[in-house]
Amino acid sequence: MIRITALAVILAASFPAFASEQAKAKVDLVKAKEIAEGVCVACHGADGNSPTAANPILAGQGQEYLYKQLANFKAADGKPAVRNNPVMAGMVAALSDDDMRSLAAYFSQQKIKPAVAKDEKLLAEGQALWRKGDFSKQIPACAGCHGPAGAGLPVQYPRLAGQYSDYTATQLKTFRSHERANDAEQMMRVIAGKLSDRQISAVAEYAAGLR
Ligand code: HEC
Ligand code: HEC
Repeated sequence: MIRITALAVILAASFPAFASEQAKAKVDLVKAKEIAEGVCVACHGADGNSPTAANPILAGQGQEYLYKQLANFKAADGKPAVRNNPVMAGMVAALSDDDMRSLAAYFSQQKIKPAVAKDEKLLAEGQALWRKGDFSKQIPACAGCHGPAGAGLPVQYPRLAGQYSDYTATQLKTFRSHERANDAEQMMRVIAGKLSDRQISAVAEYAAGLR
């Protein structure tokens, strides 16, 4: 009886704290738009449709995924950032947690102007890998997590459809080399570790053309 009471007291004491933690996170789309137009615009476009293939398109990407990436770029509590990129580290240094949540919501609500696939020769190979994986190398189908049309699956799996092939290929290579290591349970590091350069080019090209 005493133990149950003690537990009830602990729960009562911790739930309001949790609730207020949630309430503290405010999404401010007006402020997000200002930051996007003032800062992010240079590399991602004000609406998240990046003008250059090295910078990812953010428009239409999953909100939770975008927030996770921004948080991952940020070094916190004396620990290094889990996604290491000097450019984005500089960007997020000036952002509060609320700013990052707001920017994630803002960019996820923008309409994507998708990239296009250019290399026809690679498409068939990319499509096979996307849909079926590569049994001989034990590579699972990308579609299994990122969706048949590459739309992604919130909360965990990002959209890849219409993303620049250059950016997608770079990410696969940095997962392969473990330079990017912020994927839960090493999901992408294990998969990318088995991909050849040609498979990376092919699947990145195919994803760019997905709608
Ligand atoms: C000077 C250029 C530059 C500016 C300005 C910039 N970014 Fe980036 N951003 C990049 C590059 C380059 C990458 C790819 C990093 C990598 O390869 O890991 C990136 C990656 C990202 C990603 C990860 C996307 C994904 O698909 O994983 C997010 C989210 C992002 N930026 C948001 C922002 C926001 C929000 C702002 C404005 C506050 C901003 N960026 C400003 C260059 C920039
Ligand atoms: C078991 C599930 C799973 C499978 C299968 C999978 N992925 Fe992923 N992928 C993930 C997760 C989870 C992330 C997000 C990692 C993070 O949180 O940063 C991701 C992220 C990515 C990214 C980074 C996107 C960005 O915007 O930066 C690329 C590129 C990618 N995957 C490509 C692929 C390709 C190509 C295949 C098939 C060869 C594939 N994935 C198969 C789970 C999967």
